[in-house]
Amino acid sequence: MDAMIQVRDLRKTYRMGDIDVPALRGVSFDIRRGEFVAIMGPSGSGKSTLMNLLGCLDTPSGGQYLLDGLPVDQLDRNLLAAVRNRKIGFVFQQFNLLARQTALENVALPLVYLGGVPAEERMARAREMLELVGLGDRMQHHPKELSGGQQQRVAIARALITRPALLLADEPTGNLDSHSSTEIMALFEELNQQGITVVLVTHEADIAAHARRVLMVHDGLLDRDAPTQQRSLNGPAPAADRERPRRRPSIVRRPSFASKRRSLSTTQG
Ligand SMILES: Nc1ncnc2c1ncn2[C@@H]1O[C@H](COP(=O)(O)OP(=O)(O)O)[C@@H](O)[C@H]1O
Ligand SMILES: [Mg+2]
Repeated sequence: MDAMIQVRDLRKTYRMGDIDVPALRGVSFDIRRGEFVAIMGPSGSGKSTLMNLLGCLDTPSGGQYLLDGLPVDQLDRNLLAAVRNRKIGFVFQQFNLLARQTALENVALPLVYLGGVPAEERMARAREMLELVGLGDRMQHHPKELSGGQQQRVAIARALITRPALLLADEPTGNLDSHSSTEIMALFEELNQQGITVVLVTHEADIAAHARRVLMVHDGLLDRDAPTQQRSLNGPAPAADRERPRRRPSIVRRPSFASKRRSLSTTQG
């Protein structure tokens, strides 16, 4: 199996003074390369805790986590950050853009942290990513000059600039109107069809329906793991591709694909 994520008995207990808060009480599952998975569950069930562990933003209290074959549960924080920078793009509900930086500067920032990429190349790649998400005409805008949907597209461009194999999103449409949400989900679908593994958290069933598979979390445990009846905006997903996702040329690596993407984003979210 070509596994991107393998977790076994993964646990996270937060320490609040003298009290232990068991947020994740032992979950086990695999996610294959190229999958599109939604994580659902009620508020407080441990979804963000799980995402932060999957995204190497936090370390587990117990259990195993292999990311792309790498035992990340055993890495210290510095190595974890290095793995995160190289393998993972993260998208948040609140966009988390820097208010004083332009869209272009926000998108280029992960390459500064990654190091070794000259300024000229950072800007060229940031422009490419913004075109990819349909914001070629908003590069010099600051976050407050952009709609919520546009800000989230900037955040997605930022997540993609390091060419991650895995895109994680925690309630990415939680702050968006339904029209912008649909556009953002179409973008995730397209990225997934280009070969990126996508895992997103949502509590909305119609958002989860864009994924191929739903993991249901309840009270820190995995409750259900089932395929969705996918309702794709980008045309039907060929069932034969499910076992072994076809490796189409990735738009993330091929600037020439950027022009095709613009068609998705003619309306301003
Ligand atoms: N940093 C933290 N410190 C202490 N408790 C936390 C922390 N983050 C989350 N929790 C607790 O862990 C549980 C799961 O939270 P979370 O993963 O954020 O749930 P969800 O994203 O599903 O709403 C909740 O009971 C929450 O209060
Ligand atoms: Mg949450």
